[in-house]
Amino acid sequence: MDKINNLPLSDNTDKKEFYKTLNGQLKSLLENETHPIPNLANASALLNLALADINWVGFYLLKNDELLLGPFQGKPACIHIPIGKGVCGTAVASAQSQVVPDVHAFPGHIACDSASNSEIVIPIFAGNRIVGVLDIDSPEYNRFDRSDLDGLEEFTRILACGCNWDEII
Ligand code: SME
Repeated sequence: MDKINNLPLSDNTDKKEFYKTLNGQLKSLLENETHPIPNLANASALLNLALADINWVGFYLLKNDELLLGPFQGKPACIHIPIGKGVCGTAVASAQSQVVPDVHAFPGHIACDSASNSEIVIPIFAGNRIVGVLDIDSPEYNRFDRSDLDGLEEFTRILACGCNWDEII
């Protein structure tokens, strides 16, 4: 939590505008469908097109008390992640977003792509229930700041509201 609160507060209006536009595009993509699979697939494609300096973006879904690989863009990735393990499992166990400036310094980090040097993971809440996480990797160290966190948390809130999670879990 401290790590999150101590993130540099960017006064970067451009980035705030960027996420406003991006989140508007997400709302449009979600307009006519509630099934999580196509919606997560399009959401990962949108993020992959829009975000600079990333090498992996996608979703893990909470199923049978573990994280299961969902729709993504990037290299093939590990399929199962136990709760509490890696950055993704830590986000679920703590119910907190994780912003990791250097993945090599994160105890238990799970390396799916050796190009990754920093990472952000955001739990997706459907009401009080965590249904999965959004995971984004970057080859740059310290790629994600407070503006990314705020913009992407809003992104996952919009996504959570636009999906009927009972259709897959
Ligand atoms: N690095 C993640 C594993 C998933 S890959 O980055 C796609 C983790 O430590 O949980």
